[in-house]
Amino acid sequence: MTEKIVILTGAGLSAESGLSTFRDAGGLWAQHRIEDVATPEAFARDPARVQAFYNMRRAQAAEAHPNAAHLALARLQTTLKGRVILITQNVDWLHEKAGGIALHMHGVLSQALCAACGHRWYVPDEMTPDEPCPACGAPRGRPDVVWFGEMPYHLDLIDSHLSSCTLFAAIGTSGQVFPAAGFVREAQLNGAETVELNLERTEISGQFQRNIFGPATETVPRWVDSLLEDSLY
Ligand code: APR
Repeated sequence: MTEKIVILTGAGLSAESGLSTFRDAGGLWAQHRIEDVATPEAFARDPARVQAFYNMRRAQAAEAHPNAAHLALARLQTTLKGRVILITQNVDWLHEKAGGIALHMHGVLSQALCAACGHRWYVPDEMTPDEPCPACGAPRGRPDVVWFGEMPYHLDLIDSHLSSCTLFAAIGTSGQVFPAAGFVREAQLNGAETVELNLERTEISGQFQRNIFGPATETVPRWVDSLLEDSLY
C-alpha cells in the first residue's frame, strides 16, 4: 500500500508563534467563558461581544508568523506530494502561511460565513455585529468558525483519510475535544502506526504507540527529518 501520513494539529503547534492555546495556564478558556464567546447562542444573544472576540483573535493570527514546526510540516507535504494530509483544529492560517495545505475542521478566522444564505467570503480584518453578506445583503455575517454544539467540517473526508493512512500523528492537541480526540483510535483500528508529539502527556497519550515530548519547534522538524530519511516514505 502506498504510505500515507495523516497529521492532526492543535493549538500547541501555534503556541510558539505567540498564539494562546485554550487549556494551558492562562489560555483562552481561562480568560473567556466558552458560553459567552464560542456558541451559536452567545452570538444570537450578543453578536458585538462575539465579533469583538474573533476580531481580536483574527488580528493576532494575521500578525503571527509560522514557526519551524509549520515550516517542517509544509516541507513534508511538498516532498511527499499528495501523501501527507494535514487536518487542523486551529482557526489561524499559519499552515498556509508556511506553504502547507490544511483541512480546517473548525473553520478559519480569515473567512466569514453568511448565516442566512451560506455564502463565504474573505475577511481581512474586523467584522461588525451586523456584518452584511456581500451575496444576499442580509446583516447575518459571522466568523466561519465551528462553535461548540456545531458539526465540524470535512468529517466524511477525514474519515476516509483515517481509514487509508499508514501513519497517524497528533501534534499539539490536548485530546479533550471530540471528534478529533477519537481520530487516533479510528486510525489504529485501520492498522495505522500512531505517534503523538506534545509538550507533555495528554489524556490520550496512552492511546499512541509512540510519544515524542518537547516543544513543537524542536520535535516536529526532527520528526519530519526522520520520516524523510526513512526508506518507507
Ligand atoms: N509544543 C507542543 N505542544 C504544545 C506546546 C508546544 N510549544 N504548547 C502547548 N502544547 C500542547 C499542550 O500540552 C496541550 O496538550 O498543546 C495542547 C493545547 O491544548 P488545547 O489548548 O486544549 O488546544 P487544542 O487541543 O487544539 O483544543 C482543541 O478545543 O476549544 C476547542 O475549538 C477549540 O480547536 C480547539 C479544540
